Amino acid sequence: MANRRIGLIGAGDVSVVHIEAIHDIEGLELVGIADNDPAVLARATEATGVPGFASAQELIGGVHPDSVHVTTPHHEHIDPSLTALAAGVHVLQEKPLAHTLEEGQRLVDALAAAGPDAPKVGICFQNRYNLASQHLRRMLDSGELGAVNGAWASVVWARSADYYRAKPWRGTWDGSGGGLLINQAIHTLDLVQWLMGGVETIDGHVATRKFADVIEVEDTAELLLTHPGGATTSFYATLTAPQDRPVEIELDCANAYVSLRGGTEGGLTIRWKDGRVDVLGERSLTSGGRSYWGVSHELLIRDFYETLEAPEPFWIGPGESMESLRILKEAYRLSGVGPAA
Ligand SMILES: NC(=O)c1ccc[n+]([C@@H]2O[C@H](COP(=O)([O-])OP(=O)(O)OC[C@H]3O[C@@H](n4cnc5c(N)ncnc54)[C@H](O)[C@@H]3O)[C@@H](O)[C@H]2O)c1
Repeated sequence: MANRRIGLIGAGDVSVVHIEAIHDIEGLELVGIADNDPAVLARATEATGVPGFASAQELIGGVHPDSVHVTTPHHEHIDPSLTALAAGVHVLQEKPLAHTLEEGQRLVDALAAAGPDAPKVGICFQNRYNLASQHLRRMLDSGELGAVNGAWASVVWARSADYYRAKPWRGTWDGSGGGLLINQAIHTLDLVQWLMGGVETIDGHVATRKFADVIEVEDTAELLLTHPGGATTSFYATLTAPQDRPVEIELDCANAYVSLRGGTEGGLTIRWKDGRVDVLGERSLTSGGRSYWGVSHELLIRDFYETLEAPEPFWIGPGESMESLRILKEAYRLSGVGPAA
């Protein structure tokens, strides 16, 4: 893999995972950090020893990176990514694609307009790299599970009022573009639509059950997603639980009932209709930031750089990432919440 000089834009919570991965992957070098909060920037440059900048523009002009990682809040995703794209710099951007569909479309359009020699743009849906997700997708592609009759998915996690108070953008429509669905459950929505071949129709409702005095956005959602061919996924998600439960995705197939579990004890259990049971454990997790978000972030980052020279776009790009955004925005529209309501 060619050596790559990387700039980081946004030095908050998730940036730690990116900085660790850049440090761990041979050939990658962090060469600069941009953050528009001077105190955050000072801490980050002291911890890493690289030069700091107040904006994406200054970072790119100052250190001329090959790529940038955009780890800013949702409403600050697209401008830094477009700035990088215009300068011919590759972009690895955090999820969601954007806080609105219109903003997301700006990046999709800019990438299309840049033509076949455009820089690469990847979006961090790292749960697609979990062993269980990859294995299940391969089994669905091979046909061995038979037709999928339907699915169930849940994200039942705990968040506190302090989680929102610490970073107020997370609780606002203007900053985050939504709550639980766009920030947490989006990973599972993305997995469901990826595994089930897309989503044709959406029904459902979102609500703010526990944190209405701290946030404008939803903390609970229940959806019924209809996939091509007519199978449905029942989807439940909430941040009101006392503790995080493992993410669940379960598929009722002609030949087996398949249960995918997230988290440290996670993996895949395949209960074949003939009585056999196959179990696949998830990768073991290490310490630090990665024990929380999993090792798959690093796998996605590694894959992004290993395929940078390939002629085709990165497989999880802006177009691919519009789908989860479209689903959750439709749930907001149906519930009469958000700026368009
Ligand atoms: N893939 C995952 O599993 C995962 C996990 C956590 C967070 N995230 C995503 O990462 C992103 C950041 O989340 P976080 O919790 O680290 O947020 P955060 O608020 O902790 O950090 C964001 C940082 O960006 C800085 N910033 C804001 N606008 C900027 C701009 N225009 N230019 C430069 N810096 C700017 C802020 O000052 C802040 O330091 C979000 O999109 C979030 O959804 C992804």
